[in-house]
Amino acid sequence: MFYGTDTGNTEMAANLVVEKVKAMLGDDSIDIHEIYQKTGSDMSVYNLIIIGMPTWYDGELQGDWEEYIPEIKEIDFSGKKVAFFGLGDQYGYASFFCDGIGIFAEFIENQGGELCGFTSTSGFEHDFSKAERGDQFVGLCLDVDNQDELTDERVEGWIPQVLEEFGLLVKNEN
Ligand SMILES: Cc1cc2nc3c(=O)[nH]c(=O)nc-3n(C[C@H](O)[C@H](O)[C@H](O)COP(=O)(O)O)c2cc1C
Repeated sequence: MFYGTDTGNTEMAANLVVEKVKAMLGDDSIDIHEIYQKTGSDMSVYNLIIIGMPTWYDGELQGDWEEYIPEIKEIDFSGKKVAFFGLGDQYGYASFFCDGIGIFAEFIENQGGELCGFTSTSGFEHDFSKAERGDQFVGLCLDVDNQDELTDERVEGWIPQVLEEFGLLVKNEN
């Protein structure tokens, strides 16, 4: 898990994700890193990566992720799977909702990475998002500014999906 945050919301969501992964796969199953001042090699040692990032200032990347772009461009993501969750405000920034994960997902794809953990856009009332592909987001969108009561269940539903797509859980057909 790699996350960046300005005001702590993404850190809180990252801790929730980590807690739920550990509950399913055990305490040693996941490492957590804040992206601030990390290098490319800090990420490239992993093949299964969860990235958490908010969107700031009308569709901009959070500052630490902005600074990380040159590092990402040095990483070969071939054979790596990456799942995103994004924090945003669907009403206050309806035309830029969770743009950050859409922008960053493209970088990862351009570097050969495989994206996992897409989710439905239903349940959100934004106008536009760079995170959208058809009727899906390129990851999980969380809006703790307006729908904090849904955060836990959104994460709870997403983790098994990501772990299955990562090949770490067998899908339960029952
Ligand atoms: C000045 C400002 C600009 C923002 N810009 C956007 C935006 O463009 N798109 C969006 O979805 N959310 C935007 N937000 C909402 C934040 O992404 C949201 O509050 C998020 O939870 C912050 O995460 P953090 O605490 O991890 O930094 C903005 C919030 C503020 C205060």
